[in-house]
Amino acid sequence: MIYKGLIKKYAAYLPITKATPSLTLLEGNTPLIKAINLSKKYGVSIYFKYEGLNPTGSFKDRGMVVAVAKAIEEGSNHIICASTGNTSASAAAYAARANIKCSVIIPSGKIAYGKLAQALIYGANVIAVDGNFDEALDIVKTLADKYPITLVNSINPYRLQGQKTSSFEIVDDLGDSPDYLCLPVGNAGNITAYWMGFNEYLYKHKCTSLPTVYGFQAKGSCPIVENRIFTHPETIATAIRIGNPVNWDNANKVAKQSKGDITAITDEKIVEAYKLLALTEGIFAEPASCISLAGILQKIQLGEIKKGSTVVGILTGNGLKDPDSAINNIKKVESIACDEKKIKEIIFNE
Ligand code: F0G
Repeated sequence: MIYKGLIKKYAAYLPITKATPSLTLLEGNTPLIKAINLSKKYGVSIYFKYEGLNPTGSFKDRGMVVAVAKAIEEGSNHIICASTGNTSASAAAYAARANIKCSVIIPSGKIAYGKLAQALIYGANVIAVDGNFDEALDIVKTLADKYPITLVNSINPYRLQGQKTSSFEIVDDLGDSPDYLCLPVGNAGNITAYWMGFNEYLYKHKCTSLPTVYGFQAKGSCPIVENRIFTHPETIATAIRIGNPVNWDNANKVAKQSKGDITAITDEKIVEAYKLLALTEGIFAEPASCISLAGILQKIQLGEIKKGSTVVGILTGNGLKDPDSAINNIKKVESIACDEKKIKEIIFNE
């Protein structure tokens, strides 16, 4: 059957009515890639849900398509969000597709270059502020309360509805839920959405069990782990540089109900996993996404992820969004004379 996008495919599971416009960039339907080399090394079946292959290169497209379609159904012609980059890229793309206005507020200097390029080329009104994501979100909430503009951050319930469809795809591919689900936690919308998805599929008898969910925050930006607001969150994983998550309570509920937890990972371990994923599996994901692999390795080492089990790590965004992180963490390329002998020496002596 030809794939017609997330709203069409999962209409029965989404808050869709006859009046919902059919909007799509053919989001969703992303591959679940087996990590063949890492699985063999650790004796665990590790899969990655590569959400970086969505139309704007991140998982945000799943929720955004539903949020924008519903905004239009409800008569809105202008959306707004605060963003560490991916939400703004996605909002801008769907607004362009639907021919409505989009305003995005981003923390100045703290978003990956590719994401900024996306918001600009899709024609959003991009406002960079001297403040962090949490401060930008406070302003966006106030504006959306006061003026006729639709907020499309993950406080918007339609976002999580769309995002839960990734759980459906994982179960459809594996034939049941995995034993463990590992993913990054920023605003904690995604972890909430995945849990909703697995529970809904369990209820509909599409799977027989629920995964244990392990969420990961960056050590310099881990409010849920330390149970305190971070007023100055810092991490190389700018996508999850969030000090006061909107879905904080929900994340704790998911961890408790699934018998999992939310733990912190250092930037050093994130970078190690970022390189390892590319080197051993040929998959390039942005730093925030690679916290999933760093977390999986930590849980295997601690014996919390058992040998012989099945683990799915969510790779939330494409590595190409953030070329600076790659280039800054790999040895520099020096240019030399275009000379066969010299090049031969380097190739065979490396
Ligand atoms: N991974 C990536 C690549 C992200 O961009 C985000 C969030 C997350 C993980 C965390 O997901 O917030 O649902 O827990 N990015 C948001 C943004 C904040 O503005 O693009 P979450």
